Formats: sequence, structure tokens, C-alpha cells
Amino acid sequence: MSYAVETTNLTRTFGELTAVDALDLKVARGTFFGFLGPNGAGKSTTMKMLTGLLDKTSGEARILGHDLERDALEVKRRIGVVPEELALYERLKGREYLTFVGRMYGLARADTEARAGELLELMELDRSEDKLIVDYSHGMKKKLALSAALIHKPELLFLDEPFEGLDAIAARLIKDLMGSLIRSGVTIFLTSHILEIVEKLCSDIAIIHRGRLVAQGTLAELRSGIPGQAGATLEQLFLSLVDAEEAPAGHLSWLG
Ligand SMILES: Nc1ncnc2c1ncn2[C@@H]1O[C@H](COP(=O)(O)OP(=O)(O)OP(=O)(O)O)[C@@H](O)[C@H]1O
Ligand SMILES: [Mg+2]
Repeated sequence: MSYAVETTNLTRTFGELTAVDALDLKVARGTFFGFLGPNGAGKSTTMKMLTGLLDKTSGEARILGHDLERDALEVKRRIGVVPEELALYERLKGREYLTFVGRMYGLARADTEARAGELLELMELDRSEDKLIVDYSHGMKKKLALSAALIHKPELLFLDEPFEGLDAIAARLIKDLMGSLIRSGVTIFLTSHILEIVEKLCSDIAIIHRGRLVAQGTLAELRSGIPGQAGATLEQLFLSLVDAEEAPAGHLSWLG
């Protein structure tokens, strides 16, 4: 059985900067995968390459057994993506947008409409039926983007910071939804800085730092890989793996 995500030496440079540096990742199907790293580590760049939003510089990536470049269309059909910068058609209303996305994936009109209605209701966006997306709040846009990523029943879902900007009610709803997706066999590839959520939800974790993979495994495997971290929380493991001791102390000279 092929992996949901498999990369070999995946690399992306921007001029002099190597944002993603020879990344070897393996994510088994059905996994709830947490992809962690400090700001600027290369998470979003990796995710953009894996979803066809950005070209790689070198290396290989296979998604659900398909070569990312050769079978680009097949890959797109089978994945759902909520990218870091949401790319919604803001002059549409929520239902119009979901209908457009569903039809683009080749769903029948009746199925598209039924699914759009169910999604809007679940995400509590049906109360804002008359609003254009441009007038949505940040959290509403996020929920609509997630709805659009689910309408075609993807096998693999890429979520870049899905909880960022969501209130506690919406965050709980999304966590519950993710749980039911995992139970139905969907693979989730998630980035988040909220380590308590990752610790609770994710079965497998990878941590990158300055473009390089510094750890990959279950939480228990990460703990056993670092001496003296037997009872550590994910936050403690994260800080020890990304050289937090090198970080500057939170002090500004003029604030005393
Ligand atoms: N289009 C671009 N042009 C130049 N540099 C870029 C570009 N996109 C990303 N970078 C750089 O690549 C590095 C990795 O950025 P990336 O967005 O992947 O980080 P990230 O891990 O997602 O961080 P965050 O947690 O802040 O979202 C950063 O140094 C960033 O400045
Ligand atoms: Mg990012």
C-alpha cells in the first residue's frame, strides 16, 4: 500500500535561502499527521509544494501513490486543501462559492447543492446567506475554505493553521469534524502552532527547523528519542528540538 504522502529530498530554494532542505517525509494513509516547526521553518512552503501550489526546486513527492507532477490532475481530484492564504472568490456568496467548487470537481448539480447546504449549516454560515465573502469575518472565511476543501470527499486533507483565528466554538466543531474524518479513513496533514491540540489529536508528528526535518514519529517515539524527556509534553519536546535556548530572552531595552 502506498503512502498518503512520501517525499524524497524535497527541496525548495528562494534565491540564496533554502526554505525546504532535502525533506524525507512518510505519512501512512489514515494518519492524523501534525507538521510542526517555528515561524519560517518551511511548513507552508512544503505544503504548497505537496498540493501543487508551488513548484519544487528538486527532489520527489508522491501523493496517494501518484507522482505529484506527472499525475497532477489526479492528485488534485483526491486531495482537499486549506492553504495559509485563503484564495476564495470574494465577490461570491458562500453558497455560490461552494456550488462553483463542487461543479468544478465534477459533482452533479443536485449533489453539489445538497452538500453545500449541509456544509453551510454545519459551519453555521447559513445565517449569513446574503453576505458576499468579502464581507465575511476572518473565522467565517476559514470555515468556508474548509467547507470547500471537503465538498468533493477528499482522501487526504491538507490544513495549514486551521485553528488560527477561530473562536472556541468553531475550534471545537472543527476538531470534532476532523475526528470523524479520521474515523472514516481520511488522512489529515496539519500544521498548527497550538501544540496542546496537536498533542491531543495527532497520531504522528514531524518537526522541521530551518527547512530540515529534526524529528518524526509518534509522541512516544519523539520522547524516547531525546534523553531525559520521558514525561515531556509536546511543547517541551518542541522547544528542546528547535534550540529554544538560543532564542533571545523577552526583553526590550527601553521598557526596563
Ligand atoms: N515566495 C517566497 N519568496 C521568498 N521567500 C519565501 C517565499 N515563501 C516563503 N519564503 C521564505 O521561506 C521560509 C519558510 O517560509 P514558510 O512560509 O514555509 O514558513 P512556515 O514554517 O510556514 O512559517 P509560519 O509558522 O510563520 O507560517 C521563510 O524564511 C520565508 O521567508
Ligand atoms: Mg506557514
